[in-house]
Amino acid sequence: MRRKSIDDLINVSKDKPKTLGLFDLTIMGIGAIIGTGILVLTGIVAATDAGPGVIFSFLIAALASALIGLCYSELTTAIPSSGSAYVYSWITMGEQIAFFSGWTLLGVYITTTATVATGWTGYVASFLREVGVNLPKSLIESPFNGGLVNLPAIIVVLLITLLLTRGMSESKVVNDVLVLVKIGIILLFVIVGSFHVKTTNWQPFLPYGVKGVFTGASTVFFSFLGFDALATSAEDCKKVQRNLPIAIIASLAISTLLYIIVSLVMTGDVKYNLLNVPEAMSFVLITLKHPYVAEIVSLGAILGILAVILAFIYASSNIAMAMSRGGFLPPVFSKLNAKTQTPNKALWLIGIITAVCSGLLDIKKLATFANVGSLCIFFLISVSVILLRKQHPDLKRPFRVPFGTVLPVLSAAVCILLLFNLPGTAWLSYIGWLAIGVILYFAYSKSHVIY
Ligand code: ALA
Repeated sequence: MRRKSIDDLINVSKDKPKTLGLFDLTIMGIGAIIGTGILVLTGIVAATDAGPGVIFSFLIAALASALIGLCYSELTTAIPSSGSAYVYSWITMGEQIAFFSGWTLLGVYITTTATVATGWTGYVASFLREVGVNLPKSLIESPFNGGLVNLPAIIVVLLITLLLTRGMSESKVVNDVLVLVKIGIILLFVIVGSFHVKTTNWQPFLPYGVKGVFTGASTVFFSFLGFDALATSAEDCKKVQRNLPIAIIASLAISTLLYIIVSLVMTGDVKYNLLNVPEAMSFVLITLKHPYVAEIVSLGAILGILAVILAFIYASSNIAMAMSRGGFLPPVFSKLNAKTQTPNKALWLIGIITAVCSGLLDIKKLATFANVGSLCIFFLISVSVILLRKQHPDLKRPFRVPFGTVLPVLSAAVCILLLFNLPGTAWLSYIGWLAIGVILYFAYSKSHVIY
């Protein structure tokens, strides 16, 4: 239960070049947040859980994310380290919780990336089918889904890893372009769709009642994951104490706004019970007889989703780098490349594991784990804010969550509420991942940890 001193953790990275400004960070946040969640889940949740009331599901999930985002902002500005929750818990709760936070973050980010990469293959395959090219099932599905290997997912994950190893500046330019494309197609959908809204489609607004709205909120929570990944960029930020909290809150606010408008337009264009399809945006546009716009939206989605993969591989390599610095993982993973100043060994470690997961595993089942793992981390984040204030009352806090401990307590309570709305199977995969972590901790980390 030994705790780490704050100075040891924040001074290690003071020489790392600061490449990310407020605009880059906000774009990166939006890049990580908006992805398969809005593209795949909105229609399904509207059809099966919440009806047009899916906008309330998004609002509840957004409110929860905003509370957690505020807690992140206080911690990340007081302790600007790329280790995120792993570092905060080492300082406030001790070595074991730190290890399991880091381990959970790695698992969450790897499975989220693999889920997104698998969804990406689905988009590519259906786009190519529309233009008359049929990819063989054996090469686009994992052995668990009747195929051999999901080759496009493997290739895309490795290519993005390669891009990240070339340095932040190159990755940043590509990321900016991808995010602008993503926002562009969402706006295109909204503009075209808004001319076809029929208010009768919104009736009944809550066909499955309030319970359906809450069940929907637990599911669409996935669409907000990514704002937390921003905290791992703390060591690459210019004026971290000002820029990072603004970027976290701004990217959450912009994403929420887009989610609400998309849900309103989607359920206004087509009756909610018809939306139970994975590519709801293109489906709606084809139903409205705009096949060419549907093609553009699909193509844009294919490009835009790449930004999510980029942000999450970057985030997980930062966690691996921070854990290696602390001695929990071998030292080679915290070495920075002399030319690019990026942790290339950590990037390849994460990239290869993620590629294998996306290509060979039934990632959709494994992915429910991402919600459980993230919520456990967010609970720890909320508790860390309270503990850090008690343990280090004089620490300089450029940003403070307002209203004393009310909001961190509320944030912890919301995490517990959402956790209880998730299925038992999600918990099982999380427990399985923790069991592997226990073995690693006792076999390696415990005897190598550095104080
Ligand atoms: N929030 C990210 C997405 O929806 C993980 O793809």
